[in-house]
Amino acid sequence: ADLVCRDVPLAQWPPEWFRLDVNIRRRGVLLDETAPQEPGRAVRAALARGADGVLDELTTARLRGRGGAGFSTATKWRLARAATTPAGGTSVVVCNADEGEPGTFKDRALLMTQAEALFDGMTAAAVTLGARLGFLYLRGEYRVLLDDLEARLAQRRAAGLLGAGLVALGGPDFDIAIHLGAGAYVCGEESALLESLEGQRGTPRIRPPFPVESGYLRQPTVVNNVETFVAIARIVVHGGAWWASIGTAESSGTKLHSVAGDCARPGVYEFPFGVTVREVLQACGAENTQAVQVGGPSGVCLAPHEFDRRLGFEDVPTAGAFTIFDDSRDMFDVARGYSQFFAHESCGLCTPCRVGTELVRRRMDKLAAGRGSVPDTDELAELEALLHGATHCGLGATATNPLRDTLLRFRPAYERRVQGHAFSPAFHLDAELA
Ligand code: NAI
Repeated sequence: ADLVCRDVPLAQWPPEWFRLDVNIRRRGVLLDETAPQEPGRAVRAALARGADGVLDELTTARLRGRGGAGFSTATKWRLARAATTPAGGTSVVVCNADEGEPGTFKDRALLMTQAEALFDGMTAAAVTLGARLGFLYLRGEYRVLLDDLEARLAQRRAAGLLGAGLVALGGPDFDIAIHLGAGAYVCGEESALLESLEGQRGTPRIRPPFPVESGYLRQPTVVNNVETFVAIARIVVHGGAWWASIGTAESSGTKLHSVAGDCARPGVYEFPFGVTVREVLQACGAENTQAVQVGGPSGVCLAPHEFDRRLGFEDVPTAGAFTIFDDSRDMFDVARGYSQFFAHESCGLCTPCRVGTELVRRRMDKLAAGRGSVPDTDELAELEALLHGATHCGLGATATNPLRDTLLRFRPAYERRVQGHAFSPAFHLDAELA
């Protein structure tokens, strides 16, 4: 089916709708100036530095994964390099472009504006690991980007940046295939992604073993986020010390944020790590903000008294979503919407997640219908605690984060439902003040 936005079919979208980079430009931060645009620039830099040189730069950069968890990229690559490759096999480089977190679209902006830097970063990984196999796992909903990305890969082959051409430059016989997902959120979890790549149903594996040791077809595999590979290309070209000079002690460099919701200038913003929530709100022209969902529903929901907190691994880690709710929004409805999302996206493998997310959804619907009572909110809190510790993977473990955060920070929004009141902003404010 054709993609439709605001009732306009894809073929008729005006060019500016594709320009998710406009806000990057407006902010004038670093991406445009430092991401290598010329295909192969970071590949040549990686070849010149050699595998140890690249790893040294990543170590100096203190680069941490941009998918959300912030694992050290240099450590991940070193572990993959040290892992045993099965006879006849190879190490594998996978880019996780299954950007499925609600409110996250910064990887799409990168795929549209920085694809050469991304492929350069993946190829730098192959040079470092001696990998012959590469995959870009592209979110099914991003099918619109497929033709352009395939064309770029074809141009790179023709330009000698992949395959035999890369061998001639002194690199491995490495190529990249694009694998299109089928719309399952759980396939953003790296081991479910690998299952999907292998043609299996996308359910998460038990970790350990981690993919660095046993990934695609049990071969040593590095899985990194789109933004991480773009950062790698920038670091390989400009050096790790430059990256480490930006940001904070534990969170070096910059981070892209998908800023959306109640603000005047939504879009993709690049900020050094350590920026406060308030600074981001000011930059995008948000007013009367009552909550920001940082890192999407699997992240954290912050209330105004927390807006001086800093985005970074020391304080508020984030995969990149920054969703703003002003005081016209009912935070119960926000949490309810997210509960529907997780109940729908649970892969069904483990009982706590499959049943738990559905029970949460039903309780929220019951409250919304005005049939709830105090024990329902108590049970919601119990379910939240249960899911947190009992599920097979991160999806279930974080599915009730919006519930946890809104129960803690916006309790009146639930109490109002128990009392059978419909939402109105005035009532909401009265309840908050009471
Ligand atoms: P994790 O902390 O288990 O792993 C992070 C990365 O480090 C993985 O690549 C893993 O293989 C590697 N790793 C961790 N420990 C390792 C070890 N001992 N040896 C070798 N490698 C190791 O986090 P996980 O479960 O992979 O991802 C959770 C994160 O995903 C959360 O922070 C969440 O914010 C984020 N997330 C992002 C979404 C998005 O759309 N970008 C969607 C949903 C969640």
